[in-house]
Amino acid sequence: MLAGKRIVLGVTGGIAAYKAVEVSRRLVDAGAHVVPVMTAGAEHFIGRTTLSALASEPVQTSLWDEASPIPHTRLGQGADLILVAPATARLLAAYAAGLSTDLLTNVLLATRAPVVVCPAMHTEMWEHPAVQANIATLRARGVHIVEPESGRLAGGDVGAGRLAAPEHIVAAVDAVLGGAGELAGLHVVVSAGGTREPIDAVRVIANRSSGKQGYAVAAEAAARGARVTLVSTVELPVPTGCTVVPVETAAQMQAAMEATAPGADVVVMSAAVADFRPVAAAEGKIKKDQGIPQIVLESTPDILAGLGAAKPAGQVLVGFAAETGDLVANATGKLERKRLDLIVANDVSAPGVGFQHDTNAVTLLRAGAPGEPAAATTVALTDKRSIARAVLDAVVEIRRGQTPPA
Ligand code: CTP
Repeated sequence: MLAGKRIVLGVTGGIAAYKAVEVSRRLVDAGAHVVPVMTAGAEHFIGRTTLSALASEPVQTSLWDEASPIPHTRLGQGADLILVAPATARLLAAYAAGLSTDLLTNVLLATRAPVVVCPAMHTEMWEHPAVQANIATLRARGVHIVEPESGRLAGGDVGAGRLAAPEHIVAAVDAVLGGAGELAGLHVVVSAGGTREPIDAVRVIANRSSGKQGYAVAAEAAARGARVTLVSTVELPVPTGCTVVPVETAAQMQAAMEATAPGADVVVMSAAVADFRPVAAAEGKIKKDQGIPQIVLESTPDILAGLGAAKPAGQVLVGFAAETGDLVANATGKLERKRLDLIVANDVSAPGVGFQHDTNAVTLLRAGAPGEPAAATTVALTDKRSIARAVLDAVVEIRRGQTPPA
């Protein structure tokens, strides 16, 4: 979606300005034409030459530099998208108030193109009611906000406010520009993360799922234009275009999936659902002096099998299979038993694969015609976004096969 797009990249004066260089490089690599605009504050943090070298044109900083008296309207009208990364509290306030004090704020007012804003600042500033009110105002006007992430901040502090990772920013831009993508108009429901089943007030039965693969599928679906509902047990940065339904237990996930899946065009069950849960969680905390507790377990409902049994015509249902034994035989069994269209099987005992890794290697098994074996495609070890692309490519192909010829 990025190839050939003209993107004005506004950089404001925060320590994260150095990451804008990486964002620019990634956008250019993806085929976009990047027009860089820096504020006076940004020039305290990075040099014009660096950003100019990694964008598509020299940096502009002022309303008064060139012969044209109206660079802002030229930039604003000619853009397919305006991206501000990082955006300081000052920029958010000026933009929310409609205040045009420099080239960037003028460009932001002189455009009808979609705008993506990536705030970055110290936690106290990010959480300040004034900043949050400005964010809410911008959101209500349709500005896309890429929320900051938690992590190390300038001066050694740790907390929320760190600029989103360049790959997340580029994915958000891609998602916004992908409005007319191949999943446009479709509703995709994705589950992500491992469920947690309470033992008592403080303890749970959990598993090693990080949720990263599900989030990658959700982000990729949104980038292809889908409306995405993400039923999640984890708190990762929310991909642009996705609505999160937070859940914790298998029972809550089942309720959320059963509420959203019936109307969905595509359902991807990438969550690692606990297979067993305590029959009843103890009230309060089980104390050591009560002796070693005997925890009686029961089976959880198989959410995916339920979705398969109730699958509406035309819906594509995708499951995952985490295996340690005979990958294809086990996954094919699940594909058939749970009445799926596609199963994404991974051998979680292989290095770099599955739980908690940023990479994955999978075998995609597609349901064959009755009596025919499942068709298998393997995807060698790669990043989870690339796996998500392969999964959604297969979904698109399955949908094509379902559509009766015109
Ligand atoms: N799943 C589910 N509800 C459960 C267990 C699993 O919806 N209670 C879904 C998972 O989200 C996944 C698929 O079923 O998409 C396969 O999960 P997996 O754990 O690999 O298989 P199980 O059916 O649990 O079988 P086993 O544990 O015997 O391998």
